[in-house]
Amino acid sequence: MCGIVGYTGSQQAKGILIDGLQHLEYRGYDSAGIAVFDGKDIEVVRRQGKVAELVAALGESDCTGTCGIGHTRWATHGAPSERNAHPHTSCSDNIAVVHNGIIENFNELREDLTLKGHTFSSDTDTEVVAHLVEDLYRGDLLQAVQEASSMLVGAYGIAVMCAEEPGKIVITRKDSPIVIGSDETGSYVASDIVAIVRATRDVVILEDNQFAVATPDGVTYFNRLGKPIEPEVTHVDWDIDVAERGGYPDFMLKEIHEQPRVVRDTLAGRMSGQEIVIDELSLTRQELNFVDRVYIIGCGTSYHAGLIAKNLIETWARIPTEVEVASEFRYRNPIITPTTLVVAVSQSGETADTLAAIRDARIRGAKVFGITNVIGSPVARESDGVIYTKANKEIAVASTKSFIGQVVSLTLMALMLGRVKGKLNLAQTRLLFAELADTAEQIEDILQNTEAIEEAARLFEGKSSAFYIGRDLASITCHEGALKMKEISYVHAEAYPAGEMKHGPIALIEQGFPVVAVATQSPTYDKTISNLEESKTRGAAIIAIATEGDTDIQKVADQVIYIPRVRDSFMPITASVPLQLLARAVAVNRGCDVDQPRNLAKSVTVE
Ligand code: G6P
Repeated sequence: MCGIVGYTGSQQAKGILIDGLQHLEYRGYDSAGIAVFDGKDIEVVRRQGKVAELVAALGESDCTGTCGIGHTRWATHGAPSERNAHPHTSCSDNIAVVHNGIIENFNELREDLTLKGHTFSSDTDTEVVAHLVEDLYRGDLLQAVQEASSMLVGAYGIAVMCAEEPGKIVITRKDSPIVIGSDETGSYVASDIVAIVRATRDVVILEDNQFAVATPDGVTYFNRLGKPIEPEVTHVDWDIDVAERGGYPDFMLKEIHEQPRVVRDTLAGRMSGQEIVIDELSLTRQELNFVDRVYIIGCGTSYHAGLIAKNLIETWARIPTEVEVASEFRYRNPIITPTTLVVAVSQSGETADTLAAIRDARIRGAKVFGITNVIGSPVARESDGVIYTKANKEIAVASTKSFIGQVVSLTLMALMLGRVKGKLNLAQTRLLFAELADTAEQIEDILQNTEAIEEAARLFEGKSSAFYIGRDLASITCHEGALKMKEISYVHAEAYPAGEMKHGPIALIEQGFPVVAVATQSPTYDKTISNLEESKTRGAAIIAIATEGDTDIQKVADQVIYIPRVRDSFMPITASVPLQLLARAVAVNRGCDVDQPRNLAKSVTVE
C-alpha cells in the first residue's frame, strides 16, 4: 500500500526520494509525488500512475534541494488522481505532509479547519494533517506535529516538513510502520526498510506515538510526552540483493527460485537432539500441553497457509483447529479461552485486519503466536511469541516464497504440538522432519523442468475463467494456486473441492474450459480422477499436477505436470510451486505486470 520516503542531508534529495519510491513500488500504489525544499519554498510535483510518470514529469530544474519527502499512494479516500496524490500542503504551502494510514476523524477536523478559513484542494483524509499542523504552528514544527497528532484518530505514519524550518523533517506514527536511519550524508525516513537499506542497515523502528526530528546532522527521538529518548537500533542483515532482480525477468520468478533456500533456512537448527525446537515460542511444554483449541488467522495467502496447517495440526496433534480470515474473526465472537492458542500468520506483519484480530484475541485471554517474515513488525511485536519465516524480503505482490516459509513454519509447529500432546513418537517426528527437509530438493527438481508448465499455460490462451480442483489438502493447495492466477493474470480462477464440481460449478464447463487439478494424494486419487472425467466429458481442458511415474493420468489430462513423489502432508509445499509458475506463465503470456498487479497492494494496512 502507500509508501513514505524522506531525506535531509548534504546530497540532492530528488534522486534519493525517487530511488526510495522505486523500491516502494512493489507495495502497490496508484500515484506518486515528492516535495523538496529549495531554500526558499517547498516545491511539490505529483502524478497519477507509476513513479516513471513522476520521473518523466520532473524536469532538470524541478525540485532541487537537499531536504524532501516522497510518497506512493494507494487510494482510500479520494480517487487516484494528481490532486489527491501526496505530498499535501497547507494553505500557505509552507507545510508539506506525506501520510500512510487513515485519519478516521478527518471529516470533523476538515469542518473545523474550514470554519477557521482553511481551503482544501483534495478529497483526501491526509490533507487535514497539513492544515492542522499549519493551524497549530507557532514557530516549532515538532510541537505543532505533537499537538496535531493528539487530535488525530486512526492509523498514521507521517512525515512533515516546514519551509520555516529548513532541513528538518518531523516524523511520527501510530499503527503504521516507520523506520529511520542515517549515513554520513544525512538522515533518512521510510515506511519500509527496503527504501533506505542501500544507505544504512542500522535503523530505528519508530514506536507508536513516538516522534523523531530528522536533520542533516542526525535524528533526535522523543516519547509521547515530548521527553528525549534513546531508541533501540536494529541491524538489518538481509542481503541487499534481495531488493534487486538478480538476472531474473521479474521478482516473482526470482522469489519462486529462492524457495529451496527458504525451506532450508526455516528448518535450520529446528531439530536439536531428537526434539523439534522452537525457542521463540513463549509457552512451556506444559502450557502447550493444555492447549485444547487452535485458531489460525490471516488474510490472502497467509490464510491459505493456515488452512494447510489445520489439516496437519488435527492429524498429528489431534487438537481441533479453526482457520479464519482475520477480517471476519475480529467481528465475530470467537470461542476463546485461556487454553486457546491463536496463531497469526502475516508475511508483512502489518496487515491491519490481522493486527486487530491479534489485539482482540489477547484481550480475550488467548496466547498469540505470530508467524511473520518481517523482523520487528507489528505482528512480531504484539504477539507473545514469534517465528520468523526466513524468506527474506519479498518484493513481488503475489506471495510465493513467504507462503512456503509460512507452511514450513506451521508444519514445524504442528510437529511440535504432536510431540507435546504425545501423539507423535520420536521416530515418527524425526522421519517427518527429514521428509519435510527433503522438499527443498524436490522443489529444485520442479524448478529445473518447467516445459510442461509452459505447455499448460498455452491452454489458457483466450480463456477468462478456470477451475482448480482437488480433494483434502489438494483442494486447499488449489485455493492458493487459483489466488495466484487471479492476482497476476486476471483470469477468474475458482478453487473447489473436486467432489463439489457436480453440485454447481460443472454447469460452467464448455469446450476448452481450463480445469487445473492437483491429483497426487493417495487416498482420494481415484475419486479425483472420476471428477476429472466428469469435466473432461463436458469439454474441459485438463491440466493435472501428478506424481512422477503416474502414467494413468495421461488418459484424462490434456497436460500433465509431474512433481516428485512426496508424503501427502507435504504435497502443498511441492505442488504449490508449479501452480505459482503456471500463474506466472499465463500472466506473462497475457502481457500482465507480474510483480505489480493492478489494484493490489503488498501490505494492506487499512481495514
Ligand atoms: C495482500 C497481499 C497478499 C497477502 C495478503 C496478506 O492482499 O497482496 O499477497 O497474502 O495481503 O498479507 P500478509 O502480509 O498479512 O501476509
